[in-house]
Amino acid sequence: MNLRQTFIYLIMLTLLAGLSSCREKKTYRIGISQCSQDDWRRKMNEEVEREAMFHDDVTVEIRSADDSNAKQISDLRYFARNGFDIIIVSPNEAEALTPTIREIYRSGMPVVIFDRNITDSSYTARIGVDDEALGRSAARYARTLVGPHANAIEVEGLGGSTPAEGRHNGFKQAFEGRILCSVQGKWNKEDAERITDSVLRLYPDVDLIYAHNDRMAIGASETARRLGRDSIRVIGIDAAPEIGIQAVADGVIDATFLYPTEGHRLVRTALAILKGERYERETTIPLASAVDKSNADILLLQNETAEEGTAKMRLLKSQLDDYWTRHSSQTYLFYASLAIIVLLAGVAFLLLRAFWQHRRHQRQLEIATQSKLTFFTNVSHDLRTPLTLIAEPVAQLAAADNLTPQQTQMMRIANKNVHILQRLINQILDFRKYENGKMTLSLSEIDFSKAIEEWTESFRAMARRRDIRLTLECVTPGEPMLLAIDQEKIERVFFNLLSNAFKHTPDNGAISIKYGIIDKTLTLSVADTGEGISEQDLGNIFSRFYQAEQVHPNGSGIGLSVARAFVELHGGEITAESQLGKGSVFTVTLPVKHVAAAASNAAPLLTRADVETELGDVDTAPEIDERKPVVLVIDDNRDIQAMLTQILQAGYNVLTASDGQRGLKMAARYVPDLIICDVMMPVMDGLECCRRLKEEVATSHIPVMMLTACSLDEQRVQGYESGADGYLSKPFNSDVLRARCAGLIQNRRRILEIWQSPVAPAPKREKPLPQTPVKAPGADLDNEFYRRFLEIFTREMGNASLSVDTLASMMGLERSQFYRKIKALTNYAPVELMKRLRLQHARTLLTSTEKTISEIAYDTGFSSPAYFTKCYRESFGETPTETRAPR
Ligand code: FRU
Repeated sequence: MNLRQTFIYLIMLTLLAGLSSCREKKTYRIGISQCSQDDWRRKMNEEVEREAMFHDDVTVEIRSADDSNAKQISDLRYFARNGFDIIIVSPNEAEALTPTIREIYRSGMPVVIFDRNITDSSYTARIGVDDEALGRSAARYARTLVGPHANAIEVEGLGGSTPAEGRHNGFKQAFEGRILCSVQGKWNKEDAERITDSVLRLYPDVDLIYAHNDRMAIGASETARRLGRDSIRVIGIDAAPEIGIQAVADGVIDATFLYPTEGHRLVRTALAILKGERYERETTIPLASAVDKSNADILLLQNETAEEGTAKMRLLKSQLDDYWTRHSSQTYLFYASLAIIVLLAGVAFLLLRAFWQHRRHQRQLEIATQSKLTFFTNVSHDLRTPLTLIAEPVAQLAAADNLTPQQTQMMRIANKNVHILQRLINQILDFRKYENGKMTLSLSEIDFSKAIEEWTESFRAMARRRDIRLTLECVTPGEPMLLAIDQEKIERVFFNLLSNAFKHTPDNGAISIKYGIIDKTLTLSVADTGEGISEQDLGNIFSRFYQAEQVHPNGSGIGLSVARAFVELHGGEITAESQLGKGSVFTVTLPVKHVAAAASNAAPLLTRADVETELGDVDTAPEIDERKPVVLVIDDNRDIQAMLTQILQAGYNVLTASDGQRGLKMAARYVPDLIICDVMMPVMDGLECCRRLKEEVATSHIPVMMLTACSLDEQRVQGYESGADGYLSKPFNSDVLRARCAGLIQNRRRILEIWQSPVAPAPKREKPLPQTPVKAPGADLDNEFYRRFLEIFTREMGNASLSVDTLASMMGLERSQFYRKIKALTNYAPVELMKRLRLQHARTLLTSTEKTISEIAYDTGFSSPAYFTKCYRESFGETPTETRAPR
């Protein structure tokens, strides 16, 4: 398991721990369906809620049916369908509610019946009171109240509810007097009042009213009082404190019997069922003795105390709830913070690791770079001595006066390049010195105006020769230009900037030098109208050995790095701005410092000769000698151009161009027999140039040899893909170069024999060459060109005044291009080719038609039959008549 995986597991564990701590415990939902709402049930509901407070895994919802069977059925279904775990029900009427309760019970939901009963045993548990015993207790108490022979009226509860039935039966069994009548009070006061009024009027001799609950007892008592029947004793059932006991205490009724509510018992039984604990299926709550004047007050007091206790408990409970809410949100927060801390720690760890790895790589890279540079420096050191030893003899030889002009030129090239090599090696060593902190400044106070004028002077001749407008301007003319610099170093910076500007500015361009001192800072800028530097290259040109792709492929890129090193050593800055196609501006700023040493301007170290060495070229524009093939050399390095010219000029006319674009123009103008082309060049590289040459009708047939320092296979492939006919790597051997050039031109000649084939007699060949297609680079274009030429010429053949000019313009070429193209393809000049094609066609007409000789002469574009005959004999060695004679 790697570190990353460990980290992920750690996060997952933290989240899981957090989540499990936040997970809710299983909560039991209890649904209680009350058949009615009254004081007795209110007391019971309070007991239920109080009990529920002790169980944090319980929620209770109580619904009241308001004495309606239909409403109660719908309440039961609501509980059954809404995810409640158990239903506790006090059925309004047994018959009406039994089927629904049975259905729910059978569906698997536990059901607890309390208070009132149903008609069967479709329940999980039942909690109730022995109502008959209650009736009997009432009957026995009545004897003590009204004696054994009293007359009683019974006010019953709702018919169909089981307590009404039990209380009636029990009273009937035990009452010793006479029950005058039993009437329905339906458990409520209003009905009881109404019915008692009627029966009291019927029975004048009543001693006792027995009501099945206290509400009805109070209603009956008030009715009796209203009717002036104050002697009638009234007893009820329930003994709910606020109504029954209070009524006894107030003397409204004489006694009441406790009908226990015991709400706590309901909750406990339900939980025992749900948790699979032991419980009683049938619970009969024991009865208590009657409540009358003797104990009512004390019971009320007890109730008050109990209520106070309940209120305190409620308060406690709400505080507890509060505490738990806070606790659980704090727990949640704690785990969330823990998870975030673990995550942050993980992220920090990964970041740190990445950082360490990066640092390690950097260090390794730095070590590798350092050892490469040390090697490089050592090699440069080693090179410097032999180079110095070469430089002197080469310089002497170059100056010798007993050399042929060709040898002199070769020596000049060698001399110049030895100097360039020396300069490069010095730059490398300087740069390393700077990088190692070993380079020091040798400051002297100079007049910068004078110095820069002298430095610029060395470039004036070059500017004149190339028609470059070179300007020098001081932007703060009034200011004194005295400051302390290391003259040699700043001169080299200037030389580097200015020779770069010359290298990249075309002839007729402009280079402007500006300088001035503002706010104790010297600013020097060199602006050119050269090809400019791309944005990407611009950011890197001062980097160590950075070589911009398009800027100067032959350079090492160290010049600007050294320039920056020198400027920075002075505490200054060097910057560049550029726009592709418009030019570049290099700006150097140096802080103006002074030294005590007296101002003395040393003579410039870099002279016009150095400028010539750096930028000068060899004149390579020979006259074209028609007897020799023409070779076009496209290379941006003027020395290479000169070198190739030297090697080839004995056997070839050599033309030169310094970039791909100029090369294309020259090729179109001169249509050379061979092109030698460098790959890396400014403006247009060799690959692009070759591709364009092969796409142009005028140049497509010309063999192209790529000459380059890139010898990698894929670069060769790129070269061949762009249509090159040959590849030669630098450095090259001059004999190999000559042989390759001759070979390519020879190949081309062999290919062009194929073009001669329609003309008779065909040149002698040892082996027949394939007719078409000619699979040489650009061959498709050449085939097409020649096919089109034949088509046009065949159409115009009868026109005796058809000129080469007319044909060239019909082919879309200039006369000279057309001439060289036809010549290159067929080895015939156009006039000669036209004559041969005319004669060939005439010969075909002679042998295959009945046309007269003069008709044939005019048809094939001869001005007269006599001239036709003359040409025909010269070409075929027989007259037209003799050709026809054998027939
Ligand atoms: C309350 C009540 C009580 C009575 C009980 C019988 O609704 O009427 O007064 O004792 O129901 O179920």
